[in-house]
Amino acid sequence: MDEIPNDASPERIEIARPDDWHLHLRDGALLGRVVGATARCFRRAIVMPNLDPPIVTTADALAYRDRILAALPAGSHFEPFMTLYLTEATTPSEIARAAASTQVAGVKLYPQGATTNSARGVRGLDGLGPVLEALERHGLPLLVHGEATAPDCDVFDRERVFLDETLRPLVERHAGLRVVFEHITTAEAAAWVAEAPARVAATITPQHLLLNRNALFRGGLRPHHYCLPVLKRERDRQALVRAATSGDPSFFLGTDSAPHTRRAKESACGCAGVFSAPVALEAYAEAFARASALDRLEGFASHFGADYYGRPRNEDRVTLVRGDWQGPETLGAGDDALVVFLAGEALRYRLQDGSAARG
Ligand code: NCD
Ligand code: ZN
Repeated sequence: MDEIPNDASPERIEIARPDDWHLHLRDGALLGRVVGATARCFRRAIVMPNLDPPIVTTADALAYRDRILAALPAGSHFEPFMTLYLTEATTPSEIARAAASTQVAGVKLYPQGATTNSARGVRGLDGLGPVLEALERHGLPLLVHGEATAPDCDVFDRERVFLDETLRPLVERHAGLRVVFEHITTAEAAAWVAEAPARVAATITPQHLLLNRNALFRGGLRPHHYCLPVLKRERDRQALVRAATSGDPSFFLGTDSAPHTRRAKESACGCAGVFSAPVALEAYAEAFARASALDRLEGFASHFGADYYGRPRNEDRVTLVRGDWQGPETLGAGDDALVVFLAGEALRYRLQDGSAARG
């Protein structure tokens, strides 16, 4: 990261409790290891369905939700919202069931082969018309991993190509479809979302606000900075910072915190995903402080996502306190450790102790 300049950031910042509108919690033992890191700070989160096998029905989603609630540290007051994984076999009646459940917040579109556990994703939009119309009819958002997957498409162009070839035409064709362009990474995506109708929104991760692609190669290969969509150029990072700090309600917080063990990351073919939950709000505060835009953090982190998803804004508040702080470097030890985003780097704000969401 860049040097932290001396500045006049306030000693304390108090904001409405934030929510995380894009999160991977995994399942089984790993779920139990990571869910507390999110509940320490966020009241609610949209939990992604890319398990193996994926969450494809409302019944799957509700059972997964019960496992998440059972894995929470005692006394937590954290509310997961669930998603269904769109496959080529998803039916309009399954969409109707999902829309009827207040626990399901959206349906996730993974282009087949685009990312972790996307083998059951869709090859294209052909044949999805009835399902997309059902989403439109029920007002259930489509959450999109926006990357083209043609093997000859340059990895750094995948988001732009997907936007031009797939997403923009989709939004034009389905005039009522609500779409969240997840974890956007390019200036082009930010510009399009800013111009698009209010039914189109985007999440932005902390790593895409703080790092550009140089971070992947700084002094050697840095697997813990590898996620999908991959980090882009500095001009893209700057455009994302401008979007996140603009006060435009189309842009809101979604960490894309995606834990993989050290063994899976530090490998000849390492997994994509940055595990940011233990430092997520602090990392966003760092990005907003660097942009001298801390007064815009609350809208991005705590208001706009809730508004988009038609949920009440949280009433309780959290406090960030100034003072050099380093988050934990890992959760756990050895090959099974989860290496935390920005392990060991100084952040200028820390969530005040006792901020964990409690009932
Ligand atoms: C995510 C994961 O590991 O589940 N990885 C990532 O790099 N972001 C999947 C995803 O959101 O693409
Ligand atoms: Zn994700």
